[in-house]
Amino acid sequence: MTTICLIPGDGIGQEVIPATGRILAALCPDIDFTLAEAGWGTFQRTGSALPEATVQAVARADATLFGATQSPTDGRKTDYRSPILDLRARFDLYANLRPARALLPHHPPVDLLMVRENSEGLYIRDEEGDRKTALARRRITRRASLRIARVALAQARARRGSLTIIHKANVLPLTDGLFRRAVLEAARDFPDVRVEEMLVDAAAMRLVQHPARFDVLVAPNLYGDILSDLTAGLVGGLGLAASANVGDDVAIFEPVHGSAPDIAGLGVANPVAAFLSAAMALDYLHQEKVARRLRIAIHAALHAGPLPPDLGGNATTHQFTEAVLHAL
Ligand code: NAI
Ligand code: MG
Repeated sequence: MTTICLIPGDGIGQEVIPATGRILAALCPDIDFTLAEAGWGTFQRTGSALPEATVQAVARADATLFGATQSPTDGRKTDYRSPILDLRARFDLYANLRPARALLPHHPPVDLLMVRENSEGLYIRDEEGDRKTALARRRITRRASLRIARVALAQARARRGSLTIIHKANVLPLTDGLFRRAVLEAARDFPDVRVEEMLVDAAAMRLVQHPARFDVLVAPNLYGDILSDLTAGLVGGLGLAASANVGDDVAIFEPVHGSAPDIAGLGVANPVAAFLSAAMALDYLHQEKVARRLRIAIHAALHAGPLPPDLGGNATTHQFTEAVLHAL
């Protein structure tokens, strides 16, 4: 029996995750779901944004689907910490996988995967400074670079067999140089994967000009964060962008978007990013055939229309979910 933990969170997470639960239940009747809570609403009710029961539910599940949470907006100082950041740290979810695939008819044929190092780089948040000078330390380790390289190389092997290392080792020979060398070293165990390297600034331009030439990209944390928003923009934006946070034992799948307070409660959120995140979860659970069925159904619903409002149509979340269920 496979167990999937659902954490809707706040805002449109409460709309797109239940919709995804319906799709998954229809696809795989033998999946067991557990529902767990996290986020700003939970914090206001219980004083904790990430209750221990939720952490335990994630630890027990075979995979977790996370919606989105909201950060406090009224400027009051609280102990609130973003649950997804806590979960990434708690379970050492060091690989952030962000695919970008063109699904809409008028888009160029992009099908790439950004593999972003998710545990170090500038995101160790080690800053100091005064009003005149500020410094941020950036940590790159051989261990973390080797393990993210292996994830990226395995993904490349399972896809079209090509990997682009993103770095800026000409300016940062110690940190980015270490990252680059570690990836090249790991690549020796993957002789069937073609490896190239590209400076991050050049990569930004080539991604805009020739996105179809890329297969898998591997990047230190900050570059991967920025470039994966760029690639999401290439293929239709936040309503379609899915992601995975993967560690050695735990994996959490989530749409890239946030809680979208401007449309929350209106029933018009695009659920495709959450559906595609569920497809990534199915791949991770070795249910590749089921994942493929889901992607084909999403594709069919996007082509038949009507599209959700963020893609120019007038379909509600419910109507679009029904269309995908119908296509299944
Ligand atoms: P956002 O992603 O929530 O929304 C940005 C814009 O995109 C909004 O206009 C929204 O309506 C639209 N949008 C996003 N997802 C959509 C969907 N599925 N369908 C249709 N339209 C969609 O980002 P924003 O506004 O910067 O942040 C809102 C809240 O979400 C903040 O409290 C932020 O901290 C939080 N957030 C949480 C994340 C997470 O839980 N992983 C990630 C990003 C933001
Ligand atoms: Mg980001």
